[in-house]
Amino acid sequence: MFLGIDVGTGGTRALLIDRTGRVLASHSAEHAPIHSEFIGWAEQDPEDWWRAAQLAIAGALKAAAEAGHTEAVEAVGLTGQMHGCVMLDAAGEVLRPALIWCDQRTQPQCDWLNETIGYERIIELTANPALPNFTLTKLLWVREEQPEIFARIAHVLCPKDYVRLRMTGVYAMDMQEASGTLLLDVVHRRWSTEMAAAAGIPMSWLPELFEGPEICARISAAGAAATGLKVGTPVAAGAGDQGAGAVGMGILAPGSVSATIGTSGVVFAATAEPTLDPKGRLHTFCHAAPGVWHVMGVTNGAGLSFRYLKDTFFPSRSYDELTAVAAEVPAGSDGLLWAPYLFGERTPHLDPEARAAFVGITASTTSAHFVRAVLEGVAFSLKDTFTLFAELGIPVERIRLGGGGARGPLWRQIQADVYGQPVELLEAEEGGAFGAALLAGTGVGAWASVEAACEATIRAAETIVPQHAERMASAYVHYRKLYPALYSIR
Ligand code: XUL
Repeated sequence: MFLGIDVGTGGTRALLIDRTGRVLASHSAEHAPIHSEFIGWAEQDPEDWWRAAQLAIAGALKAAAEAGHTEAVEAVGLTGQMHGCVMLDAAGEVLRPALIWCDQRTQPQCDWLNETIGYERIIELTANPALPNFTLTKLLWVREEQPEIFARIAHVLCPKDYVRLRMTGVYAMDMQEASGTLLLDVVHRRWSTEMAAAAGIPMSWLPELFEGPEICARISAAGAAATGLKVGTPVAAGAGDQGAGAVGMGILAPGSVSATIGTSGVVFAATAEPTLDPKGRLHTFCHAAPGVWHVMGVTNGAGLSFRYLKDTFFPSRSYDELTAVAAEVPAGSDGLLWAPYLFGERTPHLDPEARAAFVGITASTTSAHFVRAVLEGVAFSLKDTFTLFAELGIPVERIRLGGGGARGPLWRQIQADVYGQPVELLEAEEGGAFGAALLAGTGVGAWASVEAACEATIRAAETIVPQHAERMASAYVHYRKLYPALYSIR
């Protein structure tokens, strides 16, 4: 059995698979709610992730044993929410709650980096621009606002890497995760000493780097006692949730692309070379497989848009009821448009201050139109990433859908119509924990490569072809006018 652990935002999930990719057992444990002292702030306690990880691992092992799977776990792989900044002292003790990926307080630190190093130079060094989501900007905030804590930092990790530390005693990070710190030289797959020096971060704080499937640590005696895993079990480096999720969907070869709608929405393409957007609108990261890179565009308020609509206006109706009525509305929602910028926006606008809007309401607009417009608006926003891919010459040969956006028939069809290309559904989509388990198995030689692991375990189930591509292409032209108009009225 191979164990994948996904230290997400809402909770931690542990999942056990066999060599055919069959899921043998899984178990999840929730995290405490995100702590947000001020608008835009988001913090979590690393100790709480470790508590949840112990529960999730023990729960998955118990469920597997009850189903008759008593064989040993051969290897463990980790994934999780990316970019979070875990600050530790020389003894490995947590110095303050982590500033996590969606914390937006660090625009002044991004401005400082741009003024000091230069926008283009940052992209040359790290392949990405300074965004409030990225780890380095969070460290710089602590340097300015809490210098007494900054002075005691000896190690910096991302969320899943802290769980690894507790299980193994080893400080390690994989290339894909490290790409989201703004401290990695993504092109050469090594820490950027120049970026660290320019930002004033000692290299000694940064953990050793590994490729996703590399075995970088083993379960310690303390880790074994806490989780029920055996002492000495190999632990692979793993990847951030986007990298591991893509592995779990078989997105490794150039031309293969995924569109995943969870709380946020991500369009992810594997590339054979690092493809830089000189304007920094896409993230350019190392992939979880050695020698592979990826680009991705992120919509902050994707599934979040639908949840917001339901919770605010239709609290007593289920998602299924809402999509059933929305399916009665014609494609294009009779001209009603939704700009999904509830949480600012990353791709393509890089604007933490952007605001959401409905545009085009008439006296005939029904509540069902609002639901359909939200689903379409989110798909348009993901389409913006496909538009950038076209601009940068990134091939899109096959699109696989993932997350909540792949589950219901309406949102799948809307995506095929808006992207204007057939979309594939997988037989089973288990998210990042599954990809992390594949990386673990590859690390101990169960498969010859990450690519071989995907081939052995991932199968497409269905292809959905566009039905209203032309109509949605003209609606997209109108959608593209929303952001500039909204920008001009703030
Ligand atoms: C990726 C990103 C999110 C987080 C939380 O860049 O910010 O996917 O990893 O899931």
